[in-house]
Amino acid sequence: APADVALTPPLGWNSWNSFGCGITEAAVRQAADAMVSSGMRDAGYQYVVVDDCWFDPQRDSSGNLRAHPTKFPSGMKALGDYIHSRGLKFGIYQAPNERTCAQGVGTHPGSTGSLGHEAQDAAAFASWGVDYLKYDWCSSWGTRDEQVARFTVMRDALRATGRPIVYSINPNSFHTPTGDDYDWGEVAHLWRTTEDLLDIWQNGNANSYPMGVGNVLDVTAPLAAQTGPGHWNDPDMLVVGRPGLTPTESRAHFALWALMAAPLMAGNDIRTMSAETSAVLRNRHLLAVNQDPLGAGGRRVRDDGATEVFAKPLADGSVAVGLLNRGGGPTAVTTTADQIGLTGTAFTLTDLWTGATSTTSGQISATVPAHGIAVYRVVGGSPVPSTTSRLRGAASG
Ligand code: GLA
Repeated sequence: APADVALTPPLGWNSWNSFGCGITEAAVRQAADAMVSSGMRDAGYQYVVVDDCWFDPQRDSSGNLRAHPTKFPSGMKALGDYIHSRGLKFGIYQAPNERTCAQGVGTHPGSTGSLGHEAQDAAAFASWGVDYLKYDWCSSWGTRDEQVARFTVMRDALRATGRPIVYSINPNSFHTPTGDDYDWGEVAHLWRTTEDLLDIWQNGNANSYPMGVGNVLDVTAPLAAQTGPGHWNDPDMLVVGRPGLTPTESRAHFALWALMAAPLMAGNDIRTMSAETSAVLRNRHLLAVNQDPLGAGGRRVRDDGATEVFAKPLADGSVAVGLLNRGGGPTAVTTTADQIGLTGTAFTLTDLWTGATSTTSGQISATVPAHGIAVYRVVGGSPVPSTTSRLRGAASG
């Protein structure tokens, strides 16, 4: 994928989860303002992404996309200028088919997908100051080869504009006969690994619909080896602070996405979020883990059924560890320094929720509430050579 952008997972906000097709330019401007006033921008969030339904149902007589006349009356260039004036970056949405997803399901009229208009649309995006394109496969599921071909056309069209634009794709490959383990790293900076994540903790088995935090985790965690700088697994936008999750579940979800090196796109209404939700999104310790320059995807290094341990090696040789409790009541979750890829006899643990530090000779454990996670940065000792190279996987590539 094009160089020099998305070297760490993109951080931002996306309109879909809270606004759907009701998104308006006023709401996007207010979201941009809230990114600044909440401190999210200063914490590292950059992209304000306008998802589906921003466009007029008809292209103009020359085939140009246009902003929706009543929802985005000032046009997309003006909106991009506003977002940039707040020190933020501008993201937009389109589809590699005849219809976007909302057009496909009939919630937005028209058939203004980018198929056959890729160069024209990419040039329009660049002229509006777009910094990020979410390109969403819909209409029919297609074959893997068709998907690769269509996503590559837009990759090349974006490159041809000369503007650095993060290319975020949703192949919806969950639906293809070959499943979702394709490595899209040559095509895009980030690619969705699952169906849409809803604000549900867990729904049945990994591949059940609709998908909750546990479902998306179970599909995405095994794909950790293919994530790294410039090419990220995307387990979908955050549902932190959405009504279907408890505060404990929102925290676990955020920490797991940080550990997976996932793009962190807030999907809650950041204009009205609680102080508690804002604090989770702005947790500087977890954001540092997520944005670590090594770009390693956290691995599930231990699975005891209801409890699981995730480890993410960091560039300075330390390791971030998550002790997850998926069970129904509080329980102890335990690992060791050796199991997360460190050798030695003296370690310092920083609790990434509280900032409190403690020491250990190797045992790492916590009593974790139901649907909760304890997260630590483990410093000290030295990497276990074999384990570390396994944990780091594709991060060097
Ligand atoms: C699909 C995507 C969502 C969102 C909608 C918009 O469902 O997966 O993230 O973009 O389309 O219609």
